[in-house]
Amino acid sequence: MSLGPVHASIAAYYTERVRRFGATPLGVDWHSAPSQMLRFVQLLKGIDFTQPVSLHDVGCGYGALLDHLADRHPDAVLHYVGSDLSPEMIRRARRRWRARPDTRFDVAPAPCPDVDWSVASGVFNVNVDQPEAAWEEFVAATLSDMAAHSAFGFAVNFLDPAPGSGSPQFQPLYRVPAERWAAHCERAFGCEVELIRGYGLRESTLLARRRAPPS
Ligand SMILES: C[S@@+](CC[C@H](N)C(=O)[O-])C[C@H]1O[C@@H](n2cnc3c(N)ncnc32)[C@H](O)[C@@H]1O
Repeated sequence: MSLGPVHASIAAYYTERVRRFGATPLGVDWHSAPSQMLRFVQLLKGIDFTQPVSLHDVGCGYGALLDHLADRHPDAVLHYVGSDLSPEMIRRARRRWRARPDTRFDVAPAPCPDVDWSVASGVFNVNVDQPEAAWEEFVAATLSDMAAHSAFGFAVNFLDPAPGSGSPQFQPLYRVPAERWAAHCERAFGCEVELIRGYGLRESTLLARRRAPPS
């Protein structure tokens, strides 16, 4: 199945969001800056910032991860690539970060850069009214790209199932037990997987490490 229509729906949805709310958490569908930053803390837990590192921020939005990194890891030697399906997001990200050295933003889909680590925050949450099978194909393809191009590992997050699930969901959100994708990453990519929870948001962060990182 071609992912073109799924990608186009995602790009249209987030382009509308950022045009409406600007380069702000609401513009990428987060309720607040603190929750956006709290997600970044979890996603970066595997990375040793005392060493130079290259990082691909998949679904980078307007580049908020760089604000977080400047705040929390100001001395990091970081080669950063952000990519996003929405050209409007990339336009704003480039404008915000044009003075930052060693920084590039790509409109996706683009050739995936080879990096030490890849992270993706919130890219699987809003399923833009896609049927579940199409959405899960998109999730699997995104994880596969991240695994293939990340020497040390990658991290993503998933919304947890709603309490009392079985009741209809009125928002087009993809909620899933993260164990399901953890098992997939172990089986398909041979990664060592950790699920991070209990950080105050109804979601899980999946941290996948390559079993034999480069020496
Ligand atoms: C919820 S927003 C989060 C943005 C950013 N990660 C943050 O936390 O501030 C998700 C973003 O991912 C982008 N996106 C979703 N799937 C993608 C993919 N496979 N490749 C690149 N961008 C993607 C969307 O266009 C959107 O801008």
